[in-house]
Amino acid sequence: MKRFGLIGKHISYSLSPLIHNAHFESLGINAHYDLIDIDDLAHFELLKGYSGFNITVPYKEAFLPLLDEMSEDVKTIGAVNCVVVVNDKFRGYNTDSYGIYQTLKKYQLDLNKKKVLIIGCGGAGKAVYYTLQKYTEHEVYITNRTTSKALQLTKQVIPFTDLANYSGEFDLIINCVTPDVAIELPKIKPQATIIDINYQKHSIFIPPHMKKHTYFIDGTDMLIYQAAKIFELWFNIAPNVDVMYKELERSSKNAHW
Ligand SMILES: NC(=O)c1ccc[n+]([C@@H]2O[C@H](COP(=O)([O-])OP(=O)(O)OC[C@H]3O[C@@H](n4cnc5c(N)ncnc54)[C@H](OP(=O)(O)O)[C@@H]3O)[C@@H](O)[C@H]2O)c1
Repeated sequence: MKRFGLIGKHISYSLSPLIHNAHFESLGINAHYDLIDIDDLAHFELLKGYSGFNITVPYKEAFLPLLDEMSEDVKTIGAVNCVVVVNDKFRGYNTDSYGIYQTLKKYQLDLNKKKVLIIGCGGAGKAVYYTLQKYTEHEVYITNRTTSKALQLTKQVIPFTDLANYSGEFDLIINCVTPDVAIELPKIKPQATIIDINYQKHSIFIPPHMKKHTYFIDGTDMLIYQAAKIFELWFNIAPNVDVMYKELERSSKNAHW
């Protein structure tokens, strides 16, 4: 049996085992996907016992020096969320980018020129920024607690502590910070779209009277499409995203606004 998994810290919330294991089963693949909750990367060599693994918070940047090879996307983004283990070597990829791109396409948010704000520029935020720059005409701004990290990507930076004063200017806001961080958005442009790439819990607050004028998309689509792309890299077989969506629906764990 081939073994796959997700490395991260405090990741019991993750739905990745659910969707990958259901997907393996539906395709008759003899494989299993585990959660690998680790406090640090000291024993990273043990991961060579896996055929591949995903990487989540807080290791997407920390794992870079441990890779033997990396895709062009990983080099440009500076974060890795997926590894294929071949002959005891780690090949790194970034499929968060594919996940957010498919989400934008699904809701036609890749079209026309929009003013976009990305909140957070950790591993996922950087992948989102890269995707918007590469595949859309959008005018992209970033805000991040650590301003210097945002400034490494662009000069179009909004102060994190002053977010409330600027939030009403954007057509699309994409939240890429961890869900323990409360994000208050007192002003929202009518008909704006908010994507929170988190799917387990949301911490974006907008005034209740504005909710009906705003579209909200959670991180479920991104989760499924990044998982589908990883599956393709691991097995070189076309994935079946319908199975993954059905499994999430069945488990009723999908988060809502
Ligand atoms: N749906 C999906 O498929 C999908 C894919 C990828 C990620 N995600 C989710 O997206 C989230 C971010 O992932 P990541 O890999 O980018 O994590 P990460 O690299 O650890 O980045 C964390 C981000 O959160 C910010 N942050 C953390 N604590 C904060 C605090 N107390 N106050 C203000 N900002 C804070 C960080 O700001 P600093 O730079 O200042 O530290 C950084 O921007 C996670 O919850 C993850 O589960 C979902």
